[in-house]
Amino acid sequence: MNNNFEKWLEEIQRKIEYEEEETYSKVVIREYRNPRNFGVLENPDAIGEIKGPCGDTMKINLRIKNRRITDARFWTDGCGATIACGNMLTKMIKEKTIEEAADITSEKLINALGGLPEEHLHCSKLAVNTLRKAIK
Ligand code: FES
Repeated sequence: MNNNFEKWLEEIQRKIEYEEEETYSKVVIREYRNPRNFGVLENPDAIGEIKGPCGDTMKINLRIKNRRITDARFWTDGCGATIACGNMLTKMIKEKTIEEAADITSEKLINALGGLPEEHLHCSKLAVNTLRKAIK
């Protein structure tokens, strides 16, 4: 009985992984399975928070020294693509000036992620807009 349940779980897991690989790029899967920048900074210098049109929220915390971003974290209650976007974006902006970070577009983020499915393009906009709000 227990063995059957474990087999069933393994099958479900394999099916989910297969569907993910069919839908998302390798980079997206890597970023959302291991989002090292997920969380919040203690006493951040800047905070941005936006609720997207889909109802999901993204928060970005920044540590800034001499107009340069020295550390960044993100938090979201959104989808896997949003987690991948938040993690990749917070990696891309480290050591950048705030002007350089504000110049990052959702297209650049999508390219860095190796693409996003059409129905998740808005997730990259949510991440970029949240960053811009934090910078403002
Ligand atoms: Fe809501 Fe991705 S941010 S679906």
